[in-house]
Amino acid sequence: MTNASPTEPDDPRAPLTPALQTDASFRLLVEAVEDYAIFLLDAHGNVATWNSGAKRIKGYDAREIVGRHFSVFYPPDDIAAGKPQNELAIAARDGRAEDEGWRVRKDGSPFWANVVITALHDARGDLLGFVKVTRDMTDQLRLAELQHTRELSAHVQSAIEKERASIARELHDDLGQQLAALKMQLSILGTGAQDAHIARQSRAQIGAMQAQIDTIIGSARRIAAGLRPPVLDDLGLFAAIDWLVCDFRRRYDLTIHLHIEGEENGFGTNASTSVFRLVQEALTNVVRHARASEARIAIVCARSSCTLTIEDDGCGADVTRGRAAGTFGLLGMSERVRQLGGVIEFRSAPGEGFRIVVTFPLERRADDGLATGES
Ligand SMILES: Nc1ncnc2c1ncn2[C@@H]1O[C@H](COP(=O)(O)OP(=O)(O)OP(=O)(O)O)[C@@H](O)[C@H]1O
Ligand SMILES: [Mg+2]
Repeated sequence: MTNASPTEPDDPRAPLTPALQTDASFRLLVEAVEDYAIFLLDAHGNVATWNSGAKRIKGYDAREIVGRHFSVFYPPDDIAAGKPQNELAIAARDGRAEDEGWRVRKDGSPFWANVVITALHDARGDLLGFVKVTRDMTDQLRLAELQHTRELSAHVQSAIEKERASIARELHDDLGQQLAALKMQLSILGTGAQDAHIARQSRAQIGAMQAQIDTIIGSARRIAAGLRPPVLDDLGLFAAIDWLVCDFRRRYDLTIHLHIEGEENGFGTNASTSVFRLVQEALTNVVRHARASEARIAIVCARSSCTLTIEDDGCGADVTRGRAAGTFGLLGMSERVRQLGGVIEFRSAPGEGFRIVVTFPLERRADDGLATGES
């Protein structure tokens, strides 16, 4: 007696039990589907058929997997917890079981899968097996994670800005006022000393203490302004950029040219803070890394967009090499610009200076519609 099979062993149609035989053209259709792993399990959970999508997603050839128990697709923890059997039991009981979770490819790499298992019964209601449809959702999961990370980053950034503003206010209002009061008390003390010799000594000491308090007041103001310059909230972005540039010129031996064109009323609070932080980080980088003699900042505002350029004539850097571990300045700049709905470009090469170009949309002004006749 011959034992010849009508099909080769790696043919996905080979090991079907008679009960799971399906219409040939329909099977060809299913086998050709690339985006979904669609296959049959027998009533015990052994793989009975295999399609191209299953091979693409899970990595097994039909001849490697047909006949093996489907629990090989699950991570060890799920196998230990009896998850594969549970899913079959639910599908057998309810007709269908759906799950989303990690599964394992042939090479051991994990993928995030959406799985639907549907029970197959014969006319008498006896269980024949299961249809299992698996979709690789890893890309969607990564996208959702990315979106989540971006929302979190925006939230963290705005929380940091609020915290900075509140510390700056405390430093300026509370500490600053108390130091000013202390200085006044000292000056009253100085004028009250009667004995001429003691008075001279006290006045000298008091004078020194007043000078020290002045220095502390100056430091508190400087720290507060570094956290969030009051001028940004009081006089607006352009004045704050001007203040920042003067501060860098004063503190470092660097020539900075500043060119501002257009009006700033299209900047919301977010955009103002972001542009200020972009310029602050870019200038900090010039001072830390560039060894430049000159830097140029240009802010050009048109009706609906703003272009910010910050460039220096320093040593430059290879911007094609990707981010070095532990550096967050340029990354933070990119994230801020992305949140503004804009684009940022870093142009540099060793010996050729560093240039940052940012373009982002401005908020529509209240008089825009009237001025242009648009609604
Ligand atoms: N103006 C510049 N001139 C030359 N190299 C620069 C300039 N700006 C940035 N770089 C290079 O790009 C790298 C990344 O800058 P980035 O601001 O992201 O990090 P960082 O300044 O080193 O650290 P931090 O996270 O504190 O900002 C720097 O380490 C430096 O090598
Ligand atoms: Mg930096």
